Amino acid sequence: MRNLLLLVLSLQYTCLNGQNKIVIDGGKARDTINRNIYGHFAEHLGHCIYGGFYVGENNSKIPNKDGVRLDVIESLKKLKVPVLRWPGGCFADTYHWREGIGPKNKRPSMLNVWWGSIKEDNSFGTNEFLNMCELLGAEPYISGNIGSGTPSELSDWVKYTTHPNGSSPMTDLRKQNGRKDPWHVQYWGLGNEAWGCGGNMKAEFYANIYRQYATFMSNWDNKSHLFRIASGASDDDYHWTEVLMKDIPLKMLDAVGIHHYSVIDWSQKGSATGFTEEQYFTTMQKAMRMEELVSNHAAIMDKYDPGKKVAIAVDEWGGWYEVEPGTNRAFLFQQNTMRDAMIAGTTLNIFNNHCDRVRMANLAQTINVLQAVILTNEEKLVLTPTYHVMEMYSVHQDALMLPCTVSSNDYKMGNDRLKAISASASKDKNGVSHISVVNIDANAAQDITIELKDLKFGSVTGRILTSNKIQNYNSFDNPKRIRPVDYTAFRASGSTIILKIPAFSVVVLELK
Ligand code: AHR
Repeated sequence: MRNLLLLVLSLQYTCLNGQNKIVIDGGKARDTINRNIYGHFAEHLGHCIYGGFYVGENNSKIPNKDGVRLDVIESLKKLKVPVLRWPGGCFADTYHWREGIGPKNKRPSMLNVWWGSIKEDNSFGTNEFLNMCELLGAEPYISGNIGSGTPSELSDWVKYTTHPNGSSPMTDLRKQNGRKDPWHVQYWGLGNEAWGCGGNMKAEFYANIYRQYATFMSNWDNKSHLFRIASGASDDDYHWTEVLMKDIPLKMLDAVGIHHYSVIDWSQKGSATGFTEEQYFTTMQKAMRMEELVSNHAAIMDKYDPGKKVAIAVDEWGGWYEVEPGTNRAFLFQQNTMRDAMIAGTTLNIFNNHCDRVRMANLAQTINVLQAVILTNEEKLVLTPTYHVMEMYSVHQDALMLPCTVSSNDYKMGNDRLKAISASASKDKNGVSHISVVNIDANAAQDITIELKDLKFGSVTGRILTSNKIQNYNSFDNPKRIRPVDYTAFRASGSTIILKIPAFSVVVLELK
């Protein structure tokens, strides 16, 4: 009798475990995945700028152009980085841009009070950043100083960077510093975390300040509209979004930010590499909250802006752990494992699926800080698992989103459950479709059936990112341990694709 019961239970389990299904409906495709969802963030923090992007013009050991590392540029070009946010973060509301222009030996130094109170010599400033963006082929996104700056300081920064040729004090200053033509700077943030390090403001106060600063930011660039991004809510502070949408005229507002980090517990963040499966599960619970956050913030925005003129910019997201042992606690240097690949794949699927409202996102941060895509140590450089996910997913940039309906098995931990699989899909301008599937289950492979509606294809190929331990990472001694390889564990016939995905893996299929 007991054996019979076990047999029934195990059959039931097998059936339940065979339920993964993704239905992709090409006929319902409507929205484009804005390439800026694949944006990055570079703050004057630890070794993101200094030692990461920039090693100085006089560095003879590391190949560079005007001090910017060429290996970094080459690696980031493969990600097709669309937009780069700078100079902060918390640093932005302490930054006075005039201190970072002109001859380097005349630039004053300052203390970087948010990040270790170390000396900031201002050798990397506006000209260096904007020239670097041109080298990279990325759009700059400048975070203005609202917390300790003035409206005229920000208004002059817009003029210095974008005022056309001709004579004006800011144009003349730019020319004096060696740059005749304006740069193309479309994206401007009005402060950062105004509810916290950006000035500890209340939402109502910030909305007023925003209106004031926005008034004096003129659009000098004839080619594009000045895109103003309000400092947004932390996580589920829905009141913040409500007030901004209510109090700021929509014609002055192009996007509202959201910041959300996948952190286990702010007082005990845990090791980036030596973590348990329970800690992994909690990290993924936090990461998957992004679905609820963007849905709820978007629902508030829908009330005031049903035409979806104003975008959500998730301009800081990613995993946050304790720093690597022996490194400066203020520098936020952490390793990056397959857990981070799971955060990246899952989060990007959420953004793709919400691309009607989420039209920008910036992973925190590009190099050597938090969930970095690149780690550097002197002349050595490592591409992290997160880098590889961003590279695999770059096919979705500017493609038409194909709506997916996902039924998934559960990934269980005690009484808690998460959906094991997530997916997103798109069709690019050449008619090639891509499907990204993530299995976050730390133990079980998943059998998945993909059903395609109104979508034709002749051939399917795939790539997979996985490893044999969720704690695995790429180190300076073993930099290629984790990287995408060809994936063939699928069968395609008619309008169905059947696949098996190993535990904690990211797969991208290409349908031609
Ligand atoms: O990304 C690190 C910090 O996190 C940023 O400076 C700040 O905006 C956020 O709190």
